[in-house]
Amino acid sequence: MSAIPSSIPLRNDLLGEEPYGAPQLDVPVCLNVNENPYPLEPDVVSSIAQRVASIAAELNRYPDREHIELRQAFSDYLAKESGTRLRVEQLWGANGSNEIMLQLFQAFGGPGRTALGCDPTYSMYPEYARDTFTTWKLAHRHEDFTLDVDRTIDAINEYGPSMVLVTSPNNPTGTVLPHDEIEALLAACEQAPVTGAPEGAHPILIVDEAYVEFRDPGTPSAVSLVPKHHNLAVSRTMSKAFAFAGARVGYLAADEGIIDAVRIVRMPYHLSAVTQAAALAAFEHTDEQLSTVAHLRQTREQTASWLAQQHYHGENIRVAPSGSNFVLFGTFERRETIFQDLLDRGVLIRVVGPEGWLRVCMGTDEEMARFRQAFTEVLALHDQA
Ligand SMILES: Cc1ncc(COP(=O)(O)O)c(C=O)c1O
Repeated sequence: MSAIPSSIPLRNDLLGEEPYGAPQLDVPVCLNVNENPYPLEPDVVSSIAQRVASIAAELNRYPDREHIELRQAFSDYLAKESGTRLRVEQLWGANGSNEIMLQLFQAFGGPGRTALGCDPTYSMYPEYARDTFTTWKLAHRHEDFTLDVDRTIDAINEYGPSMVLVTSPNNPTGTVLPHDEIEALLAACEQAPVTGAPEGAHPILIVDEAYVEFRDPGTPSAVSLVPKHHNLAVSRTMSKAFAFAGARVGYLAADEGIIDAVRIVRMPYHLSAVTQAAALAAFEHTDEQLSTVAHLRQTREQTASWLAQQHYHGENIRVAPSGSNFVLFGTFERRETIFQDLLDRGVLIRVVGPEGWLRVCMGTDEEMARFRQAFTEVLALHDQA
């Protein structure tokens, strides 16, 4: 509960609001925030230490505001990872993709503007909308969590949003958005007007690819569409597959016009010299940083099929097909009790998504064994109840 006294003039629309965030609990098995569970290799750690040491004496100076060297590293990484070479002017970094998203809302949202999302989806989007006074509208997904493209296009035409947000793979469902559906949305955005904007403006499509490195090999990334579409912005992060959540580095791949719009609203020197140095060091070890991704993909497949063989009150558990490093499963009459019973056994997962569903993130082999053991016990407990 917050302790904000009424004598403090909090913004009216924030009265009664609580800070958002997954619980940070000290438990043996944390499978709740979709991190890569494997720690960094010693040679990556020493590169980070060396890079940071080499700039430490210059911390009296502000960092490179335009973080050019890091933007070049994003370009090199994406050329390798997605097969698309972008120019530095088409790339932008920030403190996590959370900050990238907030900057997009600051640049393209605001009073009189609407952002459109496709729920169930990432629960931070409405918060960015609230914080920037942007109206938040939804086009619901199909029952199987795939995108309802027709409904989304209808909503684009009805609301005239300045921003359309889709997430692929989606959080919390894991659903991958096929390339042709992204192209259909882009085509709709390129025609639609924007309510509250000067004539001739069209919505931008934002594809949040926070988990995209976990996709099946050979699947294209939306980054490959950036050179052809002025209204496309692809958000990426080093927090998930890249195993760098603690460093807080996200980035944006988009047309130069979108990057220049974001540069208007960014805080001066938003990306510290320490962050830039650490990220550059990590990019020197891209292969090592991504070396656990194939294994985590395998862990996901094994966990999904194991969960699908489990029963709750005589019924098979449902598992949403996932292209990410987490799995959404359900449905449970009272999901909070399942969550709590797992927590009592030292396993922290997440109560998130549509009513009745729970999300588990892929951990190490040992952590997943503990999850399976705890979940088996919890199911037996509930069967007796
Ligand atoms: C869909 C999605 N986008 C963005 C983020 C933000 O990640 P970060 O700020 O660590 O890059 C998350 C984090 O969980 C996420 O699930």
